[in-house]
Amino acid sequence: MNAVGSATFGNREEEVQIGAIKRSRLGIFPTPLEELKMLSSSLGGPRIFIKRDDLDGLGLGGNKLRKLEYAMAEALSQRATTVITTGAVQSNHCRLVVAAANKLGLKTHLVLVGEEPRIATGNLLLDKILGAAEIHYVVKPDAYGNIKEGSDPVDEKVQEIKERLISQGEKPYYIPNGCRPLHGGLGYANCVREIVDQLYYYDLAPSSIITACGSASTQGGLLLGSRLYCQGMTQVIGISISHSKDQLIARIEEALDDACSFLGLEYKTTQEVIVYDNYLGDGYGLPTQAMKEAVKLVGQKEGIILDPVYTGKAMAGLIDLVRKGQFRKEEAIVFIHTGGIPGLFAEEQAIHFQR
Ligand SMILES: Cc1ncc(COP(=O)(O)O)c(C=O)c1O
Repeated sequence: MNAVGSATFGNREEEVQIGAIKRSRLGIFPTPLEELKMLSSSLGGPRIFIKRDDLDGLGLGGNKLRKLEYAMAEALSQRATTVITTGAVQSNHCRLVVAAANKLGLKTHLVLVGEEPRIATGNLLLDKILGAAEIHYVVKPDAYGNIKEGSDPVDEKVQEIKERLISQGEKPYYIPNGCRPLHGGLGYANCVREIVDQLYYYDLAPSSIITACGSASTQGGLLLGSRLYCQGMTQVIGISISHSKDQLIARIEEALDDACSFLGLEYKTTQEVIVYDNYLGDGYGLPTQAMKEAVKLVGQKEGIILDPVYTGKAMAGLIDLVRKGQFRKEEAIVFIHTGGIPGLFAEEQAIHFQR
């Protein structure tokens, strides 16, 4: 379905034809929207809905599929034969890039940041089953502190692979970790349109949408969607899983600029960009007590599984905000389940849930 939104940008009324941009169909959309009645009543909070982007189909699903539909369309239009991408050893993004590339007949090279584990579990196991053509492991300077300043070993490895592939007659296409902000922006603007349609059947409109925030293009896209489909009335709240609030706000503004200049829109930020970085704990992928409680609470009240790195921390943020009385009882708030479940089965995460 083509998405046409009537939106106000600055002081202009415009029709925005997002659907005219090439997109490869990879996921199953719209994803379901469910009400979390048990969770909501246990918190005594507002009506809480969950947007099940973990159920979007390909390769065990997750938020990257909405973005990859645009990235992969661009790869095909450039006649790429191989896709190169990067991420952590337990990257959900990398898993979905391999799955998407397989579906379109492309090969994948992964540059993973970290050491090769003795046994591949979680996402890495799936990368191997999905058959990434090559997997490279690169250790970042901040882990070992012995690499000359200004050089990024990940970029260097990507460059080296690109040159080798070109010399072999291949046409590589590079997808940055988390995808280009533009592709995230377009993908998650579409997600807001789905939410608005789905809540219409409850006679509701979303007052807030909450998401985990890492590369920040999901949040950037949700903000774009709020402008396009909700006149900017829907507040978008990001819960950091990796960086400081200031770094993420800068990334989100970049994602919005990127998407708006591509669409030929003027975007006047009238909406505050809201990011909380106080649910991160000691850092990316490191557990917090609140995350563990959130994962267990949602599992035990609703039978829905969250992941420990992204949605578990984001849900811990949502629960805390509800408990602090941030939302009114009659509001409809939507939590984006961005996926990431395979990460729960990685040894270093599973260990935190043993009794
Ligand atoms: C499961 C999951 N949720 C959320 C995110 C964060 O999304 P974004 O990078 O668009 O901020 C990621 C990013 O890797 C992810 O894998």
